Amino acid sequence: MLDTMALELARFRGAAIERGPVPSGRVVACDGGLIEVSGLSVPIGSLGAIESDSGDEPLAEVIGFRRGHSLMMLLGDAQLLQPRASVRAIGSPGSVRVGDALLGRAVDGLGQPIDGGPAIHASETWPLLGKRESALARSGVSESFDCGVRAVNALATMGVGQRMGIIAGSGVGKSVLIDTVAANAKADLAVIALIGERAREVSDFVTRHMSGAERGRMVVVAVPADHAPNLRLRAAQYASAIAEHFRAKGRKVLLVLDSLTRVAHAARELALVLGEPGAARGYPPSALSTITRLVERAGNCATSGGAVTGIYSVLADGDDTSDPVVDTARAILDGHLVLSRELAQRGHYPAIDIPASLSRVMHDIASAEQLEAARRLRALIAAREHNRDLVMMGAYRAGSDPDLDCALAHSNAIDAFLQQPRNACVNMTQSRAQLMDMLAKIDAPLVANA
Ligand SMILES: Nc1ncnc2c1ncn2[C@@H]1O[C@H](COP(=O)(O)OP(=O)(O)OP(=O)(O)O)[C@@H](O)[C@H]1O
Ligand SMILES: [Mg+2]
Repeated sequence: MLDTMALELARFRGAAIERGPVPSGRVVACDGGLIEVSGLSVPIGSLGAIESDSGDEPLAEVIGFRRGHSLMMLLGDAQLLQPRASVRAIGSPGSVRVGDALLGRAVDGLGQPIDGGPAIHASETWPLLGKRESALARSGVSESFDCGVRAVNALATMGVGQRMGIIAGSGVGKSVLIDTVAANAKADLAVIALIGERAREVSDFVTRHMSGAERGRMVVVAVPADHAPNLRLRAAQYASAIAEHFRAKGRKVLLVLDSLTRVAHAARELALVLGEPGAARGYPPSALSTITRLVERAGNCATSGGAVTGIYSVLADGDDTSDPVVDTARAILDGHLVLSRELAQRGHYPAIDIPASLSRVMHDIASAEQLEAARRLRALIAAREHNRDLVMMGAYRAGSDPDLDCALAHSNAIDAFLQQPRNACVNMTQSRAQLMDMLAKIDAPLVANA
């Protein structure tokens, strides 16, 4: 008798304290990762604990319903589930716990610590999918955002509340660039979501960033590639919810998501499991709209004065920049930095392809002088890259194109300006001053000749 009571007590461990009975149901089918549960009437997005023989209760999430049955998906590894196992609803559907207790911590998609630290008692709640605001509650981008990378600060200046994409094939340097920005950007705090990345990269990131003085201003939400798709998607939404919570308190937050493509992969897996037909490259429409909704959550808040500046890495599969995720991201983001494999192969880091990259808010935040200087330098870089093969073959005759002559004469200075060692920081003031110095040097002989 006592044993039975102890078991019942253990079952209620972690359950939300609510009036009325805890909703529960029974597993009636399990098929290709989809678990059908009868009798559990809870909304989509709710969590349930499934009874298992081993004693621990694997968690599953309600991802839909059909013919009176709830469709659930495990959040952890596939367990030895049994027919008619009981499922008990836990937590409060659709909301997550957020708060200052998360600062300096690394958590998974369910908010459980992964840094070996004590349990986190976050005091407040926030809707996992965010609070929908009217378009007018979003103020425009009017202040520049110092990301600590010279080429970006000077030539594709970001703004506070902007959503910027980093688009590149695999192994071209997205994660290293994001790492540099996370460490050097000027923001009140940073929320870093590492979704679908390698577990080794997650542990490297946490060890490097969660030990120094910056620790107290960072939250890491990480779900490596081998975890369930719904947990990966949930982690991206959870990181956005944490950033929104701090924005509502008037803080300027940097939200970094590496990578948006892997979130799209997770959304694709979920939609396919639910039977939605794949459209563009196998991506069902709902997978692409998940990306749009996620990106739209960043921005400035007119009422609190807070901001979420979003940086999203996008993997261009096989260096194909017309991939549906790349297209969707490019359409919804306020700018993109394209990384080039050719530059990376030459050892030019960060491998930002300047002519192909742009910040759509730069015109609103940079001075006329900087805009003109950036336009001029971009033109020189484009001329040099465009004619690179011609010059290498010796087929170019000096004097045919003044821009190219100028770019070739200052080629080393331009490269030195664009490159930056990893983890080095060049702030906004230095970046602008160095851009002006550089242009003064480039134009000096022309002025002397005139
Ligand atoms: N700024 C840099 N300085 C020196 N080396 C770099 C730099 N950026 C990238 N690299 C080199 O490129 C490699 C791959 O970089 P990174 O892991 O950032 O690529 P990625 O685009 O995130 O790849 P994936 O899509 O596979 O995640 C690094 O291991 C490093 O050797
Ligand atoms: Mg990476």
